[in-house]
Amino acid sequence: MALKITHENLADFADRVVNLEPKVAAEKREQVNLLRDRLKSHISANPGFSLVKMLHAGSVAKRTALRTVNDFDVAVYVRRDKAPGDETELVEWMTDRLREAYKGVLDPSQITPGTHCVNVYFKSSGTEVDVVPVLYEGDADDRGYLISKDATDRTEWLLTSVRLHLDFIKDRRDAVPDDWAQVVRLVKWWTREQRLATPGGTFRLKSFMIELLCAHLQDTGRIDCTDYVAALDGVFDYIVRTGLRERIAFNDFYSASALPKDRVDPIEIFDPANPGNNTARKCLDQDRVQIVDAAEAALDAITEASFATTKDQAVKCWQVVLGSKFRG
Ligand SMILES: Nc1ncnc2c1ncn2[C@@H]1O[C@H](COP(=O)(O)OP(=O)(O)OP(=O)(O)O)[C@@H](O)[C@H]1O
Ligand SMILES: [Mg+2]
Repeated sequence: MALKITHENLADFADRVVNLEPKVAAEKREQVNLLRDRLKSHISANPGFSLVKMLHAGSVAKRTALRTVNDFDVAVYVRRDKAPGDETELVEWMTDRLREAYKGVLDPSQITPGTHCVNVYFKSSGTEVDVVPVLYEGDADDRGYLISKDATDRTEWLLTSVRLHLDFIKDRRDAVPDDWAQVVRLVKWWTREQRLATPGGTFRLKSFMIELLCAHLQDTGRIDCTDYVAALDGVFDYIVRTGLRERIAFNDFYSASALPKDRVDPIEIFDPANPGNNTARKCLDQDRVQIVDAAEAALDAITEASFATTKDQAVKCWQVVLGSKFRG
């Protein structure tokens, strides 16, 4: 019996445990499409309606969702001049607009205001969709102000473009079909395990940051996504070697000269759609250290696994990275 944990072992684990089953993913996307199409026809039947369009923005749309996904993020573009400025009022108002648009299709009780989004609930499947507002003034690249929370939980508005993000991710997905997205999902799974193992559950490497990190490593030829063992090793190695202190940015939609000259935060992973938005802005230095330490433990475990003399030993090492569900 082979002692080593191979690419095939990881691919098999991903299929069985990590990935959202393709059938479920397709079903969920279909439901979101239904919402989008219905809104579209309401908008064309009611010129001047204050909602402009809907985009499926989350990991299910990007094909980077884990099996454990429970939120379906949808962005609704709202005409800024028509929307209330206050956050709570805005969410209430959006709830009413969506009830109007889905009249006769969804019961008003299926559309309810949440903290900074509107929740839409499909009874038949139990799917919950979070509809997040984007204040929109007509930008051709779909830039608008996305509602968010800052480090102290106050509302802030991020200028960004969910559409450009979808294009950006699709480019990377297409560059290495299946494998780039699979590496993202494996790194997300590692992050999930770290979060579960941390008292309090904080581990501030967010999904979007992981996608951008893996895009950067792919773009610069630092990882080979077609070998999952080597790719994970490469991701952890990069985090440990740089301490995540190296600025990460992309020139898909703006030039490097648009970025801030000086360091703005301990970790800098800039939004490809807005050079003024650091997606890691909420990470303090202690969060950075926590991520680097965890990556170091993962890297050590992968190295140790490669010297293992029994399969059992190798599996135990990989469990440090992928959790106890990993059985080799
Ligand atoms: N800091 C940010 N700045 C700009 N846009 C962001 C930021 N964080 C998230 N987004 C937008 O929201 C989308 C959804 O990202 P999010 O981090 O919620 O997770 P996700 O990709 O849906 O992953 P998960 O599987 O964890 O739900 C991103 O694709 C991006 O368009
Ligand atoms: Mg999500």
